[in-house]
Amino acid sequence: MIYKQGEIWCVETRNTGYYIAPRGPLAEQLHYGRKIRPELQPLQQKISVCFGTDVIYDKAVDPSLSLLHLGLELSPTEKGDFRQGALALRSENGDPVFDFRYLEGEILSQPPICTDLPQAHGAKECLVLRFSSPQGMRAELYYTPYEECDTIVRHMRLINETHSCVTLHRAMSFQLDLPRQDLTLTTLTGAWAREFCPQTTALRRGITCFGSTCGTSSHFCNPFFLLSDPQACEKDGEVYGFNLIYSGSHRGSVELDSYGMTRVMSGIQPDGFAWTLEHGEFFDTPQAVLSFSDQGRNGMRQNMHRFVRAHIVPDQWRERERPILVNNWEATYFDFNQKKLVSLAKKASELGVELFVLDDGWFGRRTDDTRGLGDFDVNLQKLPNGLSGLAEYLGKRNLNFGLWVEPEMVCMDSALYEQHPDWIVASPSCSPSFSRNQLVLDLCRREVQDYLIEQLSQILSSAPIRYVKWDMNRHHSDRYSASLLEQGRFSHAWILGLYRVLKSVTQSHSDVLFEGCASGGNRFDLGILCYMPQIWLSDDTDAWERCKMQTWASLGYPQSVMGCHVTAVPNHQTLRSSPLESRFDVAAFGLLGYEMDLTQVTPVQEKAIREQIAFYKEHRTLFQQGQLLCLMAPTPEKGGAWIVVSEDKQQAAVLEMNGLLTPNSAQPPLRLQGLDPDICYQVCVRAQGLELSSFRSLLNHVLPVRVKGDGLLVHLADGLYQMPCEQICYTAQGDLLMHAGIRRPQMFSGTGYNEGVRPMPDFSARIWLLTALNSEE
Ligand code: DGJ
Repeated sequence: MIYKQGEIWCVETRNTGYYIAPRGPLAEQLHYGRKIRPELQPLQQKISVCFGTDVIYDKAVDPSLSLLHLGLELSPTEKGDFRQGALALRSENGDPVFDFRYLEGEILSQPPICTDLPQAHGAKECLVLRFSSPQGMRAELYYTPYEECDTIVRHMRLINETHSCVTLHRAMSFQLDLPRQDLTLTTLTGAWAREFCPQTTALRRGITCFGSTCGTSSHFCNPFFLLSDPQACEKDGEVYGFNLIYSGSHRGSVELDSYGMTRVMSGIQPDGFAWTLEHGEFFDTPQAVLSFSDQGRNGMRQNMHRFVRAHIVPDQWRERERPILVNNWEATYFDFNQKKLVSLAKKASELGVELFVLDDGWFGRRTDDTRGLGDFDVNLQKLPNGLSGLAEYLGKRNLNFGLWVEPEMVCMDSALYEQHPDWIVASPSCSPSFSRNQLVLDLCRREVQDYLIEQLSQILSSAPIRYVKWDMNRHHSDRYSASLLEQGRFSHAWILGLYRVLKSVTQSHSDVLFEGCASGGNRFDLGILCYMPQIWLSDDTDAWERCKMQTWASLGYPQSVMGCHVTAVPNHQTLRSSPLESRFDVAAFGLLGYEMDLTQVTPVQEKAIREQIAFYKEHRTLFQQGQLLCLMAPTPEKGGAWIVVSEDKQQAAVLEMNGLLTPNSAQPPLRLQGLDPDICYQVCVRAQGLELSSFRSLLNHVLPVRVKGDGLLVHLADGLYQMPCEQICYTAQGDLLMHAGIRRPQMFSGTGYNEGVRPMPDFSARIWLLTALNSEE
């Protein structure tokens, strides 16, 4: 809701409020946080004299007012606000001084449509604050509240109405000044196969910057970040969350000044950025997402998950169930032919899989990663019946067909490069640097965008393709485009080019399910999610690594956008072996897939997978659409736990995961969250088994015959039998489960073993299923 109370502009959501009031020609930020009944006098910063070295903004306005002491929605540049501001710009004569003065505010029914950028949808109203500088440069700040998600979306439009060119060097999506300095910063950092590692730090005086410079939103530092009260935990405490609806290089910063304020900003990466506006032109920053909760990190999860589901992912996918898929990548890598694919598909369909995804290597000269990217013709040596032939076979097996593409890249050894060597991103001064043997296509060029739109449309019409995995496997280097007069535009113009392609292809094939991927989570962001409703979280599918990643990624993103696969052991990224059931337990709290050679599994594994798939199908809505809350952030000492609760609270599923096992250790009760205290739930552990090989030579203590721990007999038996795990089922009231918790059975520790003891080797998991006793299911 947006309203004006006296002089105060109030932008409110269900529980939060953002309050701004003009102070002479400035817009003062009065409060952002818990919703309040705002009043000007108590909220205004108290300044009556100027001290020492203060620069007086404008004596005629207020002889004691220095910008340094105010919370400002927009800082006039070079006028004494020595904190870094959202804007840095220069007019043609090099003048960096832009005295932006507040003109007016207005409530609109919608924020303006920025045709080139992805935007949140479903806005009901929007506040615009207008500013102008004496030269005629105008700035418009937009505030769009999303009531039910306690989220406010901000962006800035800059309009050049001066009589010369103006170059933007920094144009952040927002600046926010909070009158406190006790917040801790959490960013989600990492690298390939190590995405979403949290970094939490107390802040100190000065600027802390983070972000990416590599052309993507990046696995180095996701655009989502958190500022929290140091006491905040999963359940309680004040937490601010920030994100960007953007997929390119970005920067976030937090500055603690000398007067008790914290300035937060985020937006397009300013390093190397220069965007000149001619008279009459305008520039829109990407939208930024701001959210506040006083219910700790889980409060933030609820806000962000609601927001992403309702206002980011394309409407037609919002509540649509996602299929269980099999992907051939880790099963075959490049080494496949029709026969191999068909037998993988046959087994997958027998097990209940719904979608078959053909990954990298199906086209052109692509026999390995040194060649072929850029071309879209089917490799008939591998697939003699083409894509349509494969799709036809899959159709007979009740499997939909999905295809991998990597459209933004090209290999030198490709027909595309031979025809258009000038379409690559490269400087005229030296040869470009390679990554994974590939070069970046110059998406700043319209003809390259058109080529991709055309090729992708042709491929999508050539066979009944229901799903596309859109991959992108390198960072940008050698940033130069012959199509641009101003190279400072490159990174942003390239992303705008990508968005044009994405918009065109996804809109004209709106029934196709698109999954984003960039070597895993190198472009896991709200910009991509506006076009593709799900993203491959990481190439690392090790159960423990995924438990950590899914927990931390869930701070900003719901599990309904995370691709999660069960893969083989030893895990291809960590060489760790965790039980098959545990790999499923973790992957089930996301969009389930299998990425392993299902034709090679043993009878006992086959049975387990069939049961896993049936279980997931039965509870798919809960797993994909339920509200995910973290119960215990994962650590190797204690393990981790989370819960997903259905909207009506009739059902819930809990993941409990071990870290490194300490024998004979205490098992504190696991307190649940998010349940209805008045509902009586049936609480059952999902029936699962453990490979006999986990016990190896220990089997000698229970078997009548002597076996060699790593001998043939154990190996053979392992394929046929599993050790059943504990079976637990009881009823309990929601309040008991939340306040007293689940009492966990003893863990296997060598001496004594019966059905009440849980064999849980390192990094293994359980799912507890909760069903309301009166529930229909
Ligand atoms: C990187 C992706 O993350 C993988 O899943 C796979 O699709 C490969 N690319 C294929 O080259």
